[in-house]
Amino acid sequence: MKKTLLALTTLALLATTAQARTWDAIKQSGTIKIATEGAFPPFNYFKGKQLTGFEVDLANAIAKQLGLKVEWISQPFDNLLIGLNQDRYDFVIASHGITAERQKAVDFSNPHYCTGGAVVSKIGGPKTAADLKGKTVAVQVGTTYLENVQKVAGIGRVSTFPKDTDAQAALMAGRVDAWVGDKFSALDVVKAQKGKLQVGELLFQEKIAMAVKKGNSSLVKELNSSLATLQSNGVYAKLSQSYFGSDIRCK
Ligand code: ARG
Repeated sequence: MKKTLLALTTLALLATTAQARTWDAIKQSGTIKIATEGAFPPFNYFKGKQLTGFEVDLANAIAKQLGLKVEWISQPFDNLLIGLNQDRYDFVIASHGITAERQKAVDFSNPHYCTGGAVVSKIGGPKTAADLKGKTVAVQVGTTYLENVQKVAGIGRVSTFPKDTDAQAALMAGRVDAWVGDKFSALDVVKAQKGKLQVGELLFQEKIAMAVKKGNSSLVKELNSSLATLQSNGVYAKLSQSYFGSDIRCK
């Protein structure tokens, strides 16, 4: 028993002290490993067996621009940054807002879009932070929605769900008074629910970026320059238009 424990601890240590692949190593291998969740439409989700969404298309375009093939890995949202620090993939694109807390663990690229967390409820339900007093709210675990909802004065119960779509389902089933989620996801959900839901105010705004292992500056540099190219050559604008009908880059 003791031996096994020791072996496990050593393994964990080895994993965390291992080196992330630098840009040179990635380039030499010809393939970049990218992780996302695959359950956060319209940003990253599965259409049947096919991983798709704005961020998946954008990351594929970045890889193409860098002359690399892509190996996609999908992981529960809450595991994504942990796996990054265990060197299981080169970067993560999964709508992570840049926060001081996360910046202690990973490094972020320049933002690939700007957004906010919106209060969504059934018609007649809470629409503002003030309305949330004493109300129950559903959010995805490990997100900035959870962090910000907990700051709302007088908030009632906060229910956390492994997936954002589960939190939406709790709202539809009437198990909570509101769901707090991304404002662009909210627009899609409201549209799909045809008149049953309303989008209220934004509780907070955030800049969304790709994450690399802390200290992997050579990779961040390449991601930033590739993103800048796509944002100036029309590829980003076209992609954003097709998903959102507008350009969602940070202004
Ligand atoms: N933007 C929010 C955050 O930074 C939610 C991200 C959720 N992403 C996902 N793939 N489920 O925490």
